[in-house]
Amino acid sequence: MRILILSDLHSNATALDAVLEAAKDRWDLSVCLGDVVGYGPDPNSVTARLRELGTTTIRGNHDKAVTGLMATEDFNPVAKAAVDWTRAELKPEHMAWLSALPKGPLETDGIVLVHGAVQDEDEYVFTPEQALEGLLDSNAGVTFFGHTHHQGGFSYQDAHLEIVQIRPRAMESFAALRVEAARRYLLNPGSIGQPRDGDPRAAFAIADLEHKVVEFWRVPYDVQVVQKRMRSAHLPEPLIQRLTLGR
Ligand SMILES: [Fe+2]
Repeated sequence: MRILILSDLHSNATALDAVLEAAKDRWDLSVCLGDVVGYGPDPNSVTARLRELGTTTIRGNHDKAVTGLMATEDFNPVAKAAVDWTRAELKPEHMAWLSALPKGPLETDGIVLVHGAVQDEDEYVFTPEQALEGLLDSNAGVTFFGHTHHQGGFSYQDAHLEIVQIRPRAMESFAALRVEAARRYLLNPGSIGQPRDGDPRAAFAIADLEHKVVEFWRVPYDVQVVQKRMRSAHLPEPLIQRLTLGR
């Protein structure tokens, strides 16, 4: 069974379309690690698409903020402005769907899904120190996380923690990670709607654990057409510009 792993879509419908086109006929079921909305210009169409696909989805901090489940006082002014804009834009039925999303960790189809860390859905996992607890505590050998918008992750075996540095190069679409049965993994598919690891292409992953492989994908999309929609919506300029850089 091949699982399509989506994360941090952030209301970017053009990037999501490019991902679904690239992944076409390559997956059997889909999951999403949260942050469906926030930042981008297309909260309704992105939410509608996930609902149509029947994607098993957990909530992210932006989904919580937009639906009022989390205060935005810890958000920077730019992120908060996007939350307010999204809240005004979302159709009630999509708002209701987003507010009912379960919290991670969620066990499904042999993997565990979290938005941030295993122990705290809102915590960022950037470093091996931050990854260790989740690697030890998760209920599955392979756990997928989002939130940092950085593709890659960590693995652990016999008291040794390793950084999984696996990102497709500029001319490649994907890089494959061989999964070892005795090793534990905390893997981030990267962000579809707002990558921050220096590669502006939309990121996702496809896991096929029966064949012991996780593919980390990058696909280009029309960034300028998204930026144009963001300008029309008067979304903050820094959010628009960072899509060009993937930072
Ligand atoms: Fe995010």
